[in-house]
Amino acid sequence: MLKSGVYTQLSPVLFGNGTLQQVGKKAKELGMNKVLLVTDKKISEIGYAEKVANIIREEDVQVVIWDGVETDCPDYTVTAAAAIGREKAVDGIVGLGGGSTLDSAKAIAAVIPNGDEVLQEIVLYLTGQKNYAVKPITMLLIPTTSGTGSESTFVSVISSEIMQCKIGLPCPPDYAIVDPELTVGCPAFITAFTGMDAFSHANEALTEGKNTPHSDLLAYEAIRLITKWLPIAVKDINNAEARENLALASNFAGIAFNESGVHMGHSTAHALGHMYHISHGICCALVTPAIIEFAAKTYPEKMKKIGEIMGVTFSSEEPEAIGKAVGNAVRKLCKEIQIPSFREQGFTKEQILAAKPMIYKEPLCMSFGGTITEQDVVTTLETLYDGYQ
Ligand SMILES: [Fe+2]
Repeated sequence: MLKSGVYTQLSPVLFGNGTLQQVGKKAKELGMNKVLLVTDKKISEIGYAEKVANIIREEDVQVVIWDGVETDCPDYTVTAAAAIGREKAVDGIVGLGGGSTLDSAKAIAAVIPNGDEVLQEIVLYLTGQKNYAVKPITMLLIPTTSGTGSESTFVSVISSEIMQCKIGLPCPPDYAIVDPELTVGCPAFITAFTGMDAFSHANEALTEGKNTPHSDLLAYEAIRLITKWLPIAVKDINNAEARENLALASNFAGIAFNESGVHMGHSTAHALGHMYHISHGICCALVTPAIIEFAAKTYPEKMKKIGEIMGVTFSSEEPEAIGKAVGNAVRKLCKEIQIPSFREQGFTKEQILAAKPMIYKEPLCMSFGGTITEQDVVTTLETLYDGYQ
């Protein structure tokens, strides 16, 4: 019997090469008169921010550029940008950049009209105990990397100084423009780890409790596209066909995990990212084979299907053997695109195991569609360290 569930897509996505040219028209259609263009220094320095601002200005929409985004979206940057947004009386947010930028843009849109205290009460908003007094400002998001899927997801993942952890603030975007041309030439190592972030979204969406046949469909297709095109894009960063397919995969994975969810893999990535400031995509790449081995015990058929998509041939139908075979296929992919192991990055096994208290019983971790024991978390941490050298 097929699993029942709700099919959702938060907001429209305008996809395709050259669609960036429509940003001004779309901003106007969304009712924006004065936009805060949220981006980072690198995007600003290569002239992208000014280019996008000019396209928007052609539609008689004013633009204020704020390029103070920092990696992992620290809450103090959100507060700083929101103060500028309030002072300039903006009525729209355009986010242009990678995951940290899009997450920052989403949070800024919620904090401008509702005040900085939102950031002290993220848990209340996340658990539905509190709703915004004022609807977040209209936001349009434009990814420049293929990984996060944040343009189509409900939450903004923030590094909270107050709570000393990474946590999700609900702020659904209103519109996304996914123009693959923006990702052409993205450096190989960023392409590699952002691509594996998208892979991990698809993988975890398949086994999170809210998975549906619809989210499964998008997740499997994202895995197929990433397996085929990620090594090509890493070898040839200017390959336009690879970029198009990865941009689509990243967005599909985003829609899939927004409808379903992510679980222990992302809980682990958030914990390790927070403790040791390791990039999110690298954590996701390294944890994914271990998650597949863990999930195969509950979902052997789904993990087998991932393997079939990746070209794995199976010599046993035992869940453990399926998990191992598919986990190894993902490790092979990670090696091919040169994801460094935790050992290579200088971390000890003890440092990795020290993340356990931040993972076990954490709500995101426990949203797996099955049982998770304390030993499962320990085994996953051991496997992600020892299994990939
Ligand atoms: Fe992620």
